[in-house]
Amino acid sequence: MSIPVSSAHAAKTDNLPDALLPAIRNRWSIRSFGPELPSAQDLRTIFEAARWSASSMNAQPWRFEISFRHSERFQAFFNVLSSGNQAWAGNAPIMGLAYTLTELPEYKVANRHAMFDLGAAMSSMFIQAAELGILGHLMGGYDAEKAAALVQEERPHEIGCFFVLGYPGMPELLDEPYLTREWTPRQRLPLTELVKGL
Ligand SMILES: Cc1cc2nc3c(=O)[nH]c(=O)nc-3n(C[C@H](O)[C@H](O)[C@H](O)COP(=O)(O)O)c2cc1C
Repeated sequence: MSIPVSSAHAAKTDNLPDALLPAIRNRWSIRSFGPELPSAQDLRTIFEAARWSASSMNAQPWRFEISFRHSERFQAFFNVLSSGNQAWAGNAPIMGLAYTLTELPEYKVANRHAMFDLGAAMSSMFIQAAELGILGHLMGGYDAEKAAALVQEERPHEIGCFFVLGYPGMPELLDEPYLTREWTPRQRLPLTELVKGL
């Protein structure tokens, strides 16, 4: 089956409210990547978005490492992913690891908000990426023990997730069930269930 990239994108974004920022509408968790590498400038902009996120006590505990397709590090990241993620993630031009520092540096006490801050930063990153026409996918499915051994960090930390980034590619190169997922509209709980008092 041939599915134009634009059709997959429309299926993922058409049912969102018009009032949302375009980059929020256009961000979705893609699995089909083209081979083009985002420019160094765009990559910097994406990580600047993370850098300028809010964090508890401005601790900025988020840390990232990225790797490029065909590199040894990319392969090392790929190797620890769950098989369900390995089925598609290897086609992305960029794969990254996101972790967070779990101790407040000045006080040597646990940062209870470290993972919250990483998540918020990554949300900004992925919205900024969408603004640049770059999509990504977060991956919490990996072998935790093997992944921990990959992190080059002396300070106390916790892995958040792996992720991939790239430009949309041809969905028809995916196997099932990922092909069908690539053009299945996204679903969300109703706002009434998520927000009390609105
Ligand atoms: C922390 C986290 C971990 C995730 N792990 C995976 C994963 O291992 N594999 C996967 O295919 N998607 C993963 N996802 C993507 C979610 O399934 C996806 O965000 C959700 O279905 C909503 O779809 P959307 O991002 O396209 O709106 C993860 C998302 C988050 C935030």
